Amino acid sequence: MKNTHKPLIIGNWKMNPATITLAKKLFAEIKTGLGRKRLAVDVAVAPPFPYLSDINKMSAGKYALAAQDVFFAESGAHTGEVSLSMLKSVGVSAVIVGHSERRAQGESDHELYQDLLAVFKSKVTAVVCVGESTRDANGNFFSVVEAQLRSALRAVPKTKLNQLVIAYEPVWAIGTGKHATAEDVLEMKLFIQKILTDHVGRTRAARVRIVYGGSVKPKNAEVLLTEGGVDGFLIGGASLKAKDFVSVIKTAHQHVTTAV
Ligand code: PGA
Repeated sequence: MKNTHKPLIIGNWKMNPATITLAKKLFAEIKTGLGRKRLAVDVAVAPPFPYLSDINKMSAGKYALAAQDVFFAESGAHTGEVSLSMLKSVGVSAVIVGHSERRAQGESDHELYQDLLAVFKSKVTAVVCVGESTRDANGNFFSVVEAQLRSALRAVPKTKLNQLVIAYEPVWAIGTGKHATAEDVLEMKLFIQKILTDHVGRTRAARVRIVYGGSVKPKNAEVLLTEGGVDGFLIGGASLKAKDFVSVIKTAHQHVTTAV
């Protein structure tokens, strides 16, 4: 299946690696692995906050820098939080919003909505994570995803759809080694597109990239792209191994350059 979007591959490092030295080493290995060839793929990494500035310098604008979270307020008495302007000032151009690991820490749909309002006031891209915890035979998981998506969409201006990426991340697939099948991913992608179309119309809906996350590895990347029809990946575990991350990126590059 030929995708109309340039694929986007995001490495979500989560709370890894343990030191800035190791973070720089990982990023240097990724850079070396990707080489100088121009890629037909957008690549982003989302390191922990304390590493953003150094990774930004090493990236020198070649790869996008994403943050793993943001807090909606601009400044003030919010101990432990990080604002959008802080993130932008260290080179961040995309923010992951509503990751299931944040939701599990108590982040509500309302907070997420507020965070998104802040993101859409800027030129930063929002990577909104949606996904069910369990997959039931009756298909109730579709309504879980629908509710998360509709709640998030309330904060998205219709004119800024190209700043939105939806990451379908079934919670049961995250870090478990069990990925959703290409068939299930395609079905969910079409479902998400339908909700987007309901909300903003077909043309605008088509601007949104829909990526998949949940145990993406070099061995399943190709089938998820070709048969799952996704516009890229949000990768956790495999993004911490330079060789694996680079391999997925190269698979996506190949997918675009050889697709007819
Ligand atoms: P995983 O994580 O690739 O380790 O399953 C994906 C994610 O949480 O974004």
